Amino acid sequence: MSQNREQWGSKLGFILAASGSAVGIGNIWKYPSMAGQNGGGAFTIIYLACILIVGLSIVVAEFVIGRKTQLSPVGAFEQLAPNTNWKWVGFLGVAAAFVILSFYGVVGGWILKYIIDSLSGGFTELAGNTDAASVVFNEFITSTFSPIIYQLFFMGLCIFVIIKGVKGGIEKWSKIMMPLIVVLLGVLAIRGMTLEGGMAGISFLFNPRFEDLTASAIVLALGHSFFTVSLGMGTMITYGSYLNKKQNLVTSALWVIFLDTAIAMLAGVAIFTTVFALGGNPAEGPGLIFVILPSVFPQLAGGTLWGTIFFILLFMAALTSAISILEVVTAYFIDQKGWSRKKATLQFGGVITIVGVFCSFSLGGGINITGFLGMPFFDVMDYLSSKYMLPIGGMLTAIFILKKWGISEYMIELKTGMEGMNLSSSLVKIFLIISALVVAFIIFNEIYFEIAGKALIG
Ligand code: PHE
Repeated sequence: MSQNREQWGSKLGFILAASGSAVGIGNIWKYPSMAGQNGGGAFTIIYLACILIVGLSIVVAEFVIGRKTQLSPVGAFEQLAPNTNWKWVGFLGVAAAFVILSFYGVVGGWILKYIIDSLSGGFTELAGNTDAASVVFNEFITSTFSPIIYQLFFMGLCIFVIIKGVKGGIEKWSKIMMPLIVVLLGVLAIRGMTLEGGMAGISFLFNPRFEDLTASAIVLALGHSFFTVSLGMGTMITYGSYLNKKQNLVTSALWVIFLDTAIAMLAGVAIFTTVFALGGNPAEGPGLIFVILPSVFPQLAGGTLWGTIFFILLFMAALTSAISILEVVTAYFIDQKGWSRKKATLQFGGVITIVGVFCSFSLGGGINITGFLGMPFFDVMDYLSSKYMLPIGGMLTAIFILKKWGISEYMIELKTGMEGMNLSSSLVKIFLIISALVVAFIIFNEIYFEIAGKALIG
């Protein structure tokens, strides 16, 4: 615990930085397409329940561990459970950061390229033609050099922000970008709702269709609640470690979850109202963002402007998440190895960028080092992190508090800063137990699926 450890400049700055981490590519392309395809409002109800029980419990848990120890994940677990294997939970987080940021940086590069394409009027010829838009996208991501150049820019910007530190980098950028994301998305959503036929997009997204809510949709909602609030890899431990004792950790976590969910829904409204009004196809996954939208925007009056706004806000959402991932790695080398911030960020930001280059290559532009698994390296990294590393990290964090640290010690730190508010330790305990059990089930279900070829549910 160093005397001159950096701290957030304000409560608001911390909340915006943490929600900046949470609000990312996951909110803007994953939630809308998942909800649209899996029962609309019915999916949203399940998703909200998962986020309010599992998401909230683990966000609070990570904040508490970080603030108590004033250390990033490896040091934090080591300090609370010296000479035990618990520090491996911290290492798992650092490893997950490498894995996620390597492919996230590639996608960040794609977004940058789409901002430039949109600005230069490149979408115009794609108007209403999803086949052409699909060819453009596939040619781009499978080429060798072009995606890498954009990825280098994106990663360079991440490294730049992180070198500037907690207050002068992460907090400063989040305070500018988060409000901008909300305003720009709001403008796009209003634009979409005022289009003729746009409201059909809202009913696609929010009307509960319980007949479409399959068991696998429920599992999907649970898994996504982890990724979307950046849980299970110590991001929130690291951000919590720059807090003083005055912050109310429960209200902060509620703010993060509220902003994350509200922005996901706003993105859904902005996207589906526009897609439905213009007769587009509400496709799933990256296709929705990189194929459907570029063919839909140019059909709108002022389409170049709308398209550019959309990709700029997506870029900001990706950047505030990517910096939080890089900070986990940087903080490890500062806290545990005594490195300077600059050295840690440059060296490991560099290593992650190189791993990312191999992710990009694996999509068609070069070698695929996981070809023997029958999957591109890019997909392996995505799959490993979101299906295993984050849920396992989150589950172990809950088990750590219940079994090792102890709920009474945990409550002392949790209650610091929330004077006047009552919180029962049995309730906190029940939430943590439910979270651990639910996540254990998802992981088990996934492994069972891999071995038996079918899932227990889903
Ligand atoms: N929460 C981010 C998103 O929704 C992704 C992320 C995961 C960021 C894990 C940090 C850590 O895109």
